[in-house]
Amino acid sequence: MGLGTWQLTKNTAETVQYAIELGYHLIDTSSDYRTQPGIGKAIKNAGIAPEELYIASKVEETDDSYARTKSNLKELQLEYVDLMLIHRPPFIGVGEELWEGLIQAKNEGLVKDIGVSNYSVDLIELLIEKSGEVPAVNQIEWTPFGHSREMLDYCRQRKILIQAYSPLTRTKRLNDKTLNEIARIYGKSPAQILIRWNLQLGTVSIPKANQKPHLEEDLDVFDFELDEEDMRLLNGLNEHYSSLRSLQYI
Ligand SMILES: NC(=O)c1ccc[n+]([C@@H]2O[C@H](COP(=O)([O-])OP(=O)(O)OC[C@H]3O[C@@H](n4cnc5c(N)ncnc54)[C@H](OP(=O)(O)O)[C@@H]3O)[C@@H](O)[C@H]2O)c1
Repeated sequence: MGLGTWQLTKNTAETVQYAIELGYHLIDTSSDYRTQPGIGKAIKNAGIAPEELYIASKVEETDDSYARTKSNLKELQLEYVDLMLIHRPPFIGVGEELWEGLIQAKNEGLVKDIGVSNYSVDLIELLIEKSGEVPAVNQIEWTPFGHSREMLDYCRQRKILIQAYSPLTRTKRLNDKTLNEIARIYGKSPAQILIRWNLQLGTVSIPKANQKPHLEEDLDVFDFELDEEDMRLLNGLNEHYSSLRSLQYI
């Protein structure tokens, strides 16, 4: 799991540095989050080698993706990042040009892996068909309340990693009855159950937390395991719920 940084604009550098010191390795950002300069500062201040972290950023659908990759690196004060995503599909087409720019950036060593976000199965298939390049990641909204078995099966078969965004439902479903009953059994919080559900599914959640107790709690998910029945109960909560507009990949 990792740290999301959308709306983490208050004390970004201090918060991210604290997260790195706690043990967060994956940090998710984007050109439009306005958190890249703070993340760059946090990495420097934490005195950690960038290769010990996993930094993921994004280009926007209207960008020159190659140029944006370079400006993202400049803001982050990094020579390369681990992952660069197309933030969302463009209005027209599947984003071939954006993808070509990212492939170029990858070939030049500016990014290690490239991927997409908010893409449907059909759009990913078209992108692969046109470019021959399989995305390493699809970053999508993903919780027990809103997910897709079809997407999970497809990504497993194509070896595409699902990164789960808004994994805590932006707090909107944290008081769900079933979720709270399961949390009580394990002596964990509803947020920790949601993160653990992702871990056991093989999907990578990137919860955002500004508050230190939240950062600490969200990382404290490696000392318990949800049993099969509870995983089944959590999977059964699916109603294609979205805490944002809608599940954009369905
Ligand atoms: N690719 C995309 O289109 C896309 C879209 C949306 C999000 N994302 C990425 O996914 C990340 C996470 O999604 P998100 O920020 O939308 O929502 P989220 O992670 O589901 O929820 C964030 C909210 O949960 C609270 N929180 C964190 N830990 C908690 C805990 N243990 N108990 C109770 N509340 C807790 C946070 O509070 P505090 O901040 O007050 O601690 C914040 O209000 C984003 O930051 C971004 O990096 C990507």
